[in-house]
Amino acid sequence: MTAADRYQSFARLYDVLAGEPVYRTGRLRGIAGLRLRPGQAVVDAGCGTGLNFAHLEAALGPGGRIVGIDASCAMLDQARKRIRRAGWANIDLVHADLTAIAPTNLADLVHEAAPQVDAVLATYSLSVTGDAAAAWERILALCAPGTRVAVVDMQLPTGPAAALAPIAALACRLGGSDPSAHPWTLLEHDTPDTEASSLRGGHIQIRAGTPSRSPQP
Ligand SMILES: C[S@@+](CC[C@H](N)C(=O)[O-])C[C@H]1O[C@@H](n2cnc3c(N)ncnc32)[C@H](O)[C@@H]1O
Repeated sequence: MTAADRYQSFARLYDVLAGEPVYRTGRLRGIAGLRLRPGQAVVDAGCGTGLNFAHLEAALGPGGRIVGIDASCAMLDQARKRIRRAGWANIDLVHADLTAIAPTNLADLVHEAAPQVDAVLATYSLSVTGDAAAAWERILALCAPGTRVAVVDMQLPTGPAAALAPIAALACRLGGSDPSAHPWTLLEHDTPDTEASSLRGGHIQIRAGTPSRSPQP
């Protein structure tokens, strides 16, 4: 079963099961790392049902733009409902598999909505894709010099919090996340100015910065 298949089945329950009391703090830290200004354009890579949208809207204002990308139609349907309910007029959704679409095709789709991408956010999505390195190449394809990127993702807790590893492992299994994927290391590798932090006993890892590498040809 692909990650997108998994999310097809439980999209309508995602917001209830997403554990926001635990994980919201990570998305807020990641968004802060983007240093957004009103009017900027942000890509939400693996946007799911759009749990980042309200926070991004608060930072960008109505003059900003959000482009959400996801491989699951059912998750995008939920995101569409959220957008309609909130009355946001500055969000576009793109149905694409971040590990498979040709990077130039993805860039074309995104640039139709946002000719300049100021920031890219990936919260709890890269560890679910099954091939975080491939998804990272697509993220790089969206970046221009100066584009900020934040990756927020999960591993098993460490140190004194390691006792909670079985609960964290269950959360990862339910969400289809590979806790050994460590996708933030991809950002670290390509981003000399990486800012790093963690939350919840190391379970949530946050990295943000300005990647300096172009995608592989
Ligand atoms: C755990 S959810 C995170 C959703 C959202 N970013 C959040 O913070 O709540 C993971 C999301 O990644 C999406 N996803 C998984 N593999 C993907 C891929 N290859 N390309 C695009 N999206 C993918 C899933 O459909 C799902 O919506």
